[in-house]
Parts: sequence; structure tokens; C-alpha cells
Amino acid sequence: MSERKSQARGERPDYGVDAPDVVRRFLMVGSVAIVLQFAAPSLLALVPVSYAQILQGTARSLGWMGYGFVATACLMLWGSRVGKLRLRDRVLDALPWRGDERVLDVGCGRGLMTAGAAQRVPNGQVVGIDVWRREDQARNGPDAARRNLRIEGVAARAEVRTADMRRLPFDAASFDAVVSSWALHHLAGSDERLQALHEIDRVLKPGGRVALIDIRHGRAYAAWLRERGYAQVRVSGPNFLFLVPTLTVTAQKR
Ligand SMILES: C[S@@+](CC[C@H](N)C(=O)[O-])C[C@H]1O[C@@H](n2cnc3c(N)ncnc32)[C@H](O)[C@@H]1O
Repeated sequence: MSERKSQARGERPDYGVDAPDVVRRFLMVGSVAIVLQFAAPSLLALVPVSYAQILQGTARSLGWMGYGFVATACLMLWGSRVGKLRLRDRVLDALPWRGDERVLDVGCGRGLMTAGAAQRVPNGQVVGIDVWRREDQARNGPDAARRNLRIEGVAARAEVRTADMRRLPFDAASFDAVVSSWALHHLAGSDERLQALHEIDRVLKPGGRVALIDIRHGRAYAAWLRERGYAQVRVSGPNFLFLVPTLTVTAQKR
């Protein structure tokens, strides 16, 4: 379907839900705990009086735990559906675009940063790469990303490819900017994350910009970029849209 048709039909991009299994587990465990809290009074008659107090206390704690779990799941859903789009726009708006850059999105998933970057480079080109792990993002896949790029009206200058961020299939110094959101932390070992950083550095042109949005390892990315001689290495304050703090690291290659 053409971009014009999908816009006319009012189709909306769908950037999915991050860590869908974690969200599902929080919702399930939380709901069961809340149900048990409400069921507790009817169980009181069945237990000896000496146990009733313990049962009431346990039910109250379960209830609190349940509400906490459900609230966490709701926050994660809000983060995926609303919070990350806002943060993406803030981060990309802060980069100095010329409009003709070649941009790489590492671990693009359903194309959140790919589409955002493509909207800022009307005369440029954006490539998103991913290995499409479904446990990292709901209904992840190249077709979902391509659908979003079409709906956003940027399919002519944005594409997605299957590739591992530890072995990028691109020439050295072939991108003006490399962006990535909530992707690098999925590499379990620090050696693997270093490998991905080396690859990002390799494909970035001198003077090129990097913007990495991620949980857990932001300060380590910044330290590595500084060691590597990058200029203007900045780490944002924490954003709690997924509860675990998200940091954004931006820098310029010399
Ligand atoms: C939480 S999703 C984030 C996707 C997208 N950047 C976003 O913000 O919506 C993490 C993505 O990293 C991808 N990923 C994990 N390991 C990868 C690897 N070794 N190489 C490329 N992509 C990877 C997953 O498949 C997933 O699409």
C-alpha cells in the first residue's frame, strides 16, 4: 500500500511493547495477588482463629505487592507506547541535523529511531539493523518496521536489514550519525557491548554524531567514548519511563 493511502486510511505506526514477557508476568502475578487479597476474608472462616491474623496480614501484603506489580506493568506499557516516543523526539531534536545525513539505527526493532531520524533528513538516508528478537519487543520483525516506515511517510529514504550489531555489514566511515535506543543492553557481556561500540565507532565518519539511549550501561558507554577521544561526550539525567533509569549518551567523533 502506498504511503499516501495509508495516511488517508488513518493508519498509525505501532512501535510495539518492550520486554513483553516481563510486562505479562508483572500483570499476571499482580492480578493473582490482588484476587487472593480479596478472597482472603472468605477463607477466614475455614482456618483456626489463631491463623486468622496471620492470614489477614499475608493478604494485605499480597495486595500491596499485587498493586505494585500491576502499576509497574502499566508504567512499562506507558513507557513503550508514549514515553519512549517523547524521549526519542527530544534526543533527535537536540542533534544538529543538516538534512542530508546517512544515519544508522542499531537494534532498530520496529523502527522507532529509524523513522524519527528519517523525518529529520529529508535528503538523507537511514538504515536500521536488527536481529529481531521477539523477547525484546512484541511482534518484532522487519515487516513491522517497514510498515511503520511506510505509515510515517519515510519509506523512500529509510530501510531495515537483518544484521548483528557486533558485526555491522557496512564500510568504515560510512555513516554521518549512529543512533540506538534500548538495544545495546541486550548484549549480556561487557565484551559484547564493547564489540558493538567498536563497530559503531568503525562505521561512523570523523565528525559524525552518536546518540545512545539505553538502560544500565550509559556511563560505561560514555567512559568508552571519552577514552576513544570523542568530543562533547554528554550523559543525560535519568529518565524513569521503564522504572530502571534510562540514560542518553551523545558524543561527536573527532
Ligand atoms: C527493546 S528493543 C528496542 C527496539 C527499538 N530500538 C526501540 O527503541 O523501539 C531491542 C532491540 O534490540 C535488538 N537486538 C538485540 N540483540 C541484537 C544484536 N546482537 N544485534 C542487533 N539487534 C539486536 C532486538 O532484536 C530488539 O529489536
